[in-house]
Amino acid sequence: MEVVIQPSTAAAVELVARIIAREIHANPRAVLGLATGRTMESVYARLVSLQRNDGLDFSACRTFNLDEYVGLPGSDKHSYRHYMNVHFFNRVNIELGNTHLPDGAVSDLDAECDKYERLIEQNGGIDLQLLGIGHSGHIGFNEPLSAFESRTRVVALAPATIRQNAALFGDEDKVPRRAITMGVGTILDSRNCLLLATGKDKAEMIRQTIEGPRTNMISATALQLHKHCTIVLDKAAARSLTKIEYYNQAYESNAKWDWFRKLPAPVAHAKITA
Ligand code: F6R
Repeated sequence: MEVVIQPSTAAAVELVARIIAREIHANPRAVLGLATGRTMESVYARLVSLQRNDGLDFSACRTFNLDEYVGLPGSDKHSYRHYMNVHFFNRVNIELGNTHLPDGAVSDLDAECDKYERLIEQNGGIDLQLLGIGHSGHIGFNEPLSAFESRTRVVALAPATIRQNAALFGDEDKVPRRAITMGVGTILDSRNCLLLATGKDKAEMIRQTIEGPRTNMISATALQLHKHCTIVLDKAAARSLTKIEYYNQAYESNAKWDWFRKLPAPVAHAKITA
């Protein structure tokens, strides 16, 4: 696990967007694992501007999202399919047919989960999995009790997650109670994991994820087992960590990050409106 703390939220977002861009430059047919949520909105905004201004080309990329609410068709404005179309897919040159999310509106959810696993496999597995972290410590929607070996399946959302997402639905009662999510095992199978957390409300879960014992009560702790996992934080999300000096020193002394340090300081990027 590598922990990279950036001085601002904008710099943390910039680093994550640039890591994704480099993956695509190196492998235009990359299979990306994608996440939704508020944290990711600025990452997608940055990727949109990298396409428009730097010619980043998504035309051969394939994508698999982590999760989708059960019961919401892709046309529902609260669905993650809708989120992805609005924030990312409709704004870049990706082929919609190459973008995948589980379908939470089908009648046979178990068959949908198996199909999703097979589709990931048929596409050669995930090269780079983007992750956020929830207040319950989830990655994807892998709530407490998720086995580290779990695969794509239907889960019940934790109360902390329902509260976290209530604002988007206008009311806690309107948040779906179940979702399809890639499993912890599915996520661990990806070749690289990239987790972004920003803001002080993530600090405690980040401390437990990085410095706490591995436990299926906090599925993000499973990332300690991953060979190529980078955790990018702003200062607020990092503030409860006890070994910050070490993480910073490891980052500063690692030439692998020179390309990022050489970039001009990130400009504050307001949401793109066009
Ligand atoms: C959503 C997902 C979740 C979110 C997490 C953080 O696809 O996988 O794990 O990444 O709940 O959400 P925000 O960014 O809204 O705090």
